[in-house]
Amino acid sequence: MLQRHTLGSIPPKPHTTHYVDGKLMMEQCMTREGFDGPFSILYFKVPPTDECATEPASIAGYCPVEAVKEQPVHRRHVRTQDLKGGGDFLHARRTLLINDDIHIGVAKVTEAARDFFSNGDGDECFFAYDCSGKVESIYGWLPFRKYDYVIVPHGTPYRIHLEGNTGTLLYFEGRPELGIPRNFRNAYGQLTMFAPYSHRDFRMPQELLEFDRGLHGDPPYRLVVKRGDQMTVHLFDHFPHEVVGWDGFVYPMAFNILDYQPKTGQIHLPPTSHITFAGKGFVVCSFVPRMVDYHEKSIPCPYGHASVDCDEILYYVEGNFTSRKGIESQSISLHPMGIPHGPHPGTYEKSVGTKRTDELAVMCDTFKPLRLTTVADGIEDKDYHLTWAKGQMAK
Ligand SMILES: [Fe+2]
Repeated sequence: MLQRHTLGSIPPKPHTTHYVDGKLMMEQCMTREGFDGPFSILYFKVPPTDECATEPASIAGYCPVEAVKEQPVHRRHVRTQDLKGGGDFLHARRTLLINDDIHIGVAKVTEAARDFFSNGDGDECFFAYDCSGKVESIYGWLPFRKYDYVIVPHGTPYRIHLEGNTGTLLYFEGRPELGIPRNFRNAYGQLTMFAPYSHRDFRMPQELLEFDRGLHGDPPYRLVVKRGDQMTVHLFDHFPHEVVGWDGFVYPMAFNILDYQPKTGQIHLPPTSHITFAGKGFVVCSFVPRMVDYHEKSIPCPYGHASVDCDEILYYVEGNFTSRKGIESQSISLHPMGIPHGPHPGTYEKSVGTKRTDELAVMCDTFKPLRLTTVADGIEDKDYHLTWAKGQMAK
């Protein structure tokens, strides 16, 4: 939702005839916030409204999602490296943390993409932990690479093809939205020079999706729709996702975390100075390799804090995590609101005098408490919260 983008053929004016090869194309307006928000207008070869049957669907660990019944308030460590893989980009999803505003999970993909999927509950943001691939959607093909964030607007029929059909995706479902914070834009919608990225850093679909029997197979064509945390399969006699052209402000886009321009201060800046995306009730932040605080007496390690109105999760990707021990790549820590947290013993002192950090991590702060799901409960390091105490250092 950065700027108007267009692909393929569209008529000079919206809501007018558009004939291709003598056939009237079916216009579909993809609108947000009723008809007041950003929108795109697409021209379908076959109406996307003519499903011939529907049937219910579910994916254990994803939809419906189940929160643990009792969750004591203390620091948590969810070891997603221990998560069992299985399935394509949709069926491999395992949601780990939830509240009304956001669902957070991991997909360990092991199979080629099958059904198209449309998430009606929220915009999705994937972080490609170790993989590259392509998003195939009604807006066309969007290639992505390792360490990309990929945002897919809610209501978009799409699939994700991973290179080699394998890889790990961290995902956020912003309910209903997730995108670029308003304060990174000027009054004209352009990203300001103070934003941590520029328009040049974002990639959009460049090639339209065309029906290919070898790729898409024979009917019925299946579209899995999620809305209200229920899934329904829509079955079509005709391939329903072929678009001859579109324009607008709504489309998937990709952004690499290493293109994020971090801010560094003379003394330590708060973690939310690394905001990348935001939605209702949450922010997503990127910690990337950077120079650290340069005051002669600065302590580059994050200070202890009790951010009393936020739950904070951190997904560790790569590098030295200056403030934590016992945490490994793919770990998710959850530091809940209302209690203090800070660096592990020893890391605070050790950071004095360091000049740069190579850490790579994705953070999410939420204003409503996050609940662990039953899947997260099964891969939790249950003693993590005790590892701050002397003599009980992390494993
Ligand atoms: Fe924190």
